[in-house]
Parts: sequence; C-alpha cells; structure tokens
Amino acid sequence: MAGFLKLVCASFQHKGFHSARSHCKNRTGAEHLWLTRHLRDPFVKAAKVESYRCRSAFKLLEMNERHQILRPGLRVLDCGAAPGAWSQVAVRKVNAAGTDLSSPIGFVLGVDLLHIFPLEGATFLCPVDVTDPRTSQRILELLPGGRADVILSDMAPNATGVRDLDHDRLISLCLSLLGMTPDILHPGGTFLCKTWAGSQSRQLQRRLTEEFQRVRLIKPEASRKESSEVYFLATQYRGKKGAVKQ
Ligand SMILES: C[S@@+](CC[C@H](N)C(=O)[O-])C[C@H]1O[C@@H](n2cnc3c(N)ncnc32)[C@H](O)[C@@H]1O
Repeated sequence: MAGFLKLVCASFQHKGFHSARSHCKNRTGAEHLWLTRHLRDPFVKAAKVESYRCRSAFKLLEMNERHQILRPGLRVLDCGAAPGAWSQVAVRKVNAAGTDLSSPIGFVLGVDLLHIFPLEGATFLCPVDVTDPRTSQRILELLPGGRADVILSDMAPNATGVRDLDHDRLISLCLSLLGMTPDILHPGGTFLCKTWAGSQSRQLQRRLTEEFQRVRLIKPEASRKESSEVYFLATQYRGKKGAVKQ
C-alpha cells in the first residue's frame, strides 16, 4: 500500500489529479477504497489548487500556523522530503528563494531515500538514507554554517501493515535522527518529527525532553483521523553542553 501511495503521490504531482485513476486499473479492494477516499479528500483537492506536491503540505502549514516553527532566514533540514511538499512550504516560509526582498533569506535542504524533482529555493540530497553515517557529513557540508535551525522529519518507513513493527521502525528512525542533532542542530533550535503512536512513543518523548526545553504532541487536522500518526514538536534545543543560546 505504501508503494501504491507513492505512485499516486508521484502521478498526482507530475501528471495531475485524473492520471492517478488511470495508473491504478489493476488495484486491489483495499487500494480501491484508499483511492476513493483519496480522490474525495478536501486536502488532496486543495493541494492541487495550491500546487503543492502532496496533501501533507497542509499538516506543516497548520503546525506552523499554530506554533511559528518557520520564519524568514532560518536554515531547515527536511528529512523524508519526497515528493517535496514540506520543502515547498519551508522554502516559502523561510524565504529560501529570496522572493521577499525585504526579509532575510533562509535555506532548505531536503533529504530522502527517493529521488526528488528540483524545487526553486531548495537543495536536495537524494537518494540517501538519513541513518547512514556518511549522510550526516554531507548534510553538514551543505548547510550554511554547518548547522540547521529547524529539523523536520516526516520520514516514514514502508509500512508492513503490522502495527507494532511499523511503530518500532519509525521510532528507531526518529531516535537515529535525534542522535544526529548534536552535530547538526543549532542550540535553541527546533525538532519536529512524525511518529505512529504506540508503546515506544514514551521513550522518544523522554529522549526529546532530555534534549529540548519544551516538547508537545500534535495531531494536525490534515492528519487523517483513523491514522495513528502524531507529531512531536520539540523546541529550544539545549545543545551539546545543555546551554540554550539564541
Ligand atoms: C510521508 S513521505 C514524506 C512526504 C513529504 N514530507 C512531503 O511533504 O512531500 C515519507 C518519506 O520518508 C522517506 N524515508 C523513509 N525512511 C527514510 C530514511 N531512512 N532516509 C531518508 N528518507 C526516508 C520515504 O522515502 C518517503 O519519501
């Protein structure tokens, strides 16, 4: 199903809304149900109208509206960036393309296992695995000043459908990324990551609380109600030595 989702996302991005139907003639019952719901989804329609690559743009827009995560001039690392909707939002909010001449210019670096089509104002490092130790070195080389002010992670492993297993895999992905923050995240910085709720969520929350001054759990409206998807927003990174510098 995850592969099917990526196919629909990619076809939606490049060939338009109607082409998603024509790609999926041999779909299973579950895929048919998913596609019917997808085509009726108001966020899918809004993403098409507003030229976002995926409906997930609205999750970040909403979280940003409520919690002011992004502002002009910030350096953003977007992990699990394909097909690029969060990067589109980030480019606009941090002014990475320099379109607002009166505001500071930010920077957006998107990273993914998959190829990402170019986006003005964003730099993409792909295909790479964020958890590969060689990737952090390349990230550091690409980020201006070798630091990000905000780390976003909408990463999700290919779902097996076994809820506990998928949950554990996503938590370990988040923990791996958190393990990279001392090298990448500027003290005072922000870390936003997607998880699927489950037994290991507390462990992730505990680790975040050790590293950040404030940790919140968020379920955006644009996140499907039936999904266990939730986001941890951790702010004011204490930094390597535990001191918050602004
Ligand atoms: C839900 S999609 C992200 C959608 C994206 N935020 C957007 O708005 O376009 C999850 C992405 O995480 C990526 N991913 C999963 N594990 C990864 C890893 N270890 N390293 C890099 N990317 C990964 C997948 O390839 C997939 O593209």
